[in-house]
Amino acid sequence: VQDGSLIPRFGRARRDESLAVLEGFHAVKHALRFGAELTEAYTDDAAALARLCAALAPDVQPRLEGLVRPVDRAVFERLAPLAPSTGVIALAVRPRVEVSAVLAAERAAPVVLLEDPRDLGNLGACVRVAAAADAAGVITTAGHDPWHPDALRGAAGLHFALPVVRAQALPATLGRPLVALDPDGEPLDRDGIDPRALLAFGSERRGLSAELLAVAQERASIPMRPGVSSLNLATSVAAVLFGRR
Ligand SMILES: C[S@@+](CC[C@H](N)C(=O)[O-])C[C@H]1O[C@@H](n2cnc3c(N)ncnc32)[C@H](O)[C@@H]1O
Repeated sequence: VQDGSLIPRFGRARRDESLAVLEGFHAVKHALRFGAELTEAYTDDAAALARLCAALAPDVQPRLEGLVRPVDRAVFERLAPLAPSTGVIALAVRPRVEVSAVLAAERAAPVVLLEDPRDLGNLGACVRVAAAADAAGVITTAGHDPWHPDALRGAAGLHFALPVVRAQALPATLGRPLVALDPDGEPLDRDGIDPRALLAFGSERRGLSAELLAVAQERASIPMRPGVSSLNLATSVAAVLFGRR
């Protein structure tokens, strides 16, 4: 493919809230596996990509090979700020997700609430572990777009495995018990967490806001060795989700 519009199109897609930019094989693989609508995909080495796909994800190989088109290395390198070393990049349609629908889901699975996450790679790691633990969704607040390409990269494309959405404001009625995870809370009772809890985690530097702590039904901590002030955000999400009984 020698399409002159490709580079600007991928540049615009990074800022387009209707699209998802999937950088690298693992993101493309998960997106295909979890039902994403991919609109285009490019590789700078079709033979190497076919080998990788046969080895790691033969289930998606027919769909990937039907979609992916070769481009020169010089073009491929300009489709993302850091060209994926696994030699594939794609665009997909973002699913439309409503915060109210995520909260209303009846399945006995928690929703993860990330209050003002600042680091996009960390945000992506939270989505990845929430998908792995089969959580009912991830809701973020404040400035960052949870579908930013850097967050998608950190999540290995697992945004398509569960609803992920940024809330402008949380509804007054949540329909789930709100559990604030905070290093200064009471030691977490793993048996006591409601299976449908809304589990709130704070910003990397500042932690949870006073407003959120004031409305939480519970304030729970993951016990740590004395002297350690806190866990990394994604690590604490993992500890809580996988520590449940
Ligand atoms: C890096 S920590 C924020 C540290 C911040 N200085 C504070 O005191 O909350 C990011 C988030 O991870 C969660 N977290 C980290 N360590 C935790 C722990 N030991 N128990 C409960 N939550 C924890 C909290 O939700 C916290 O807001």
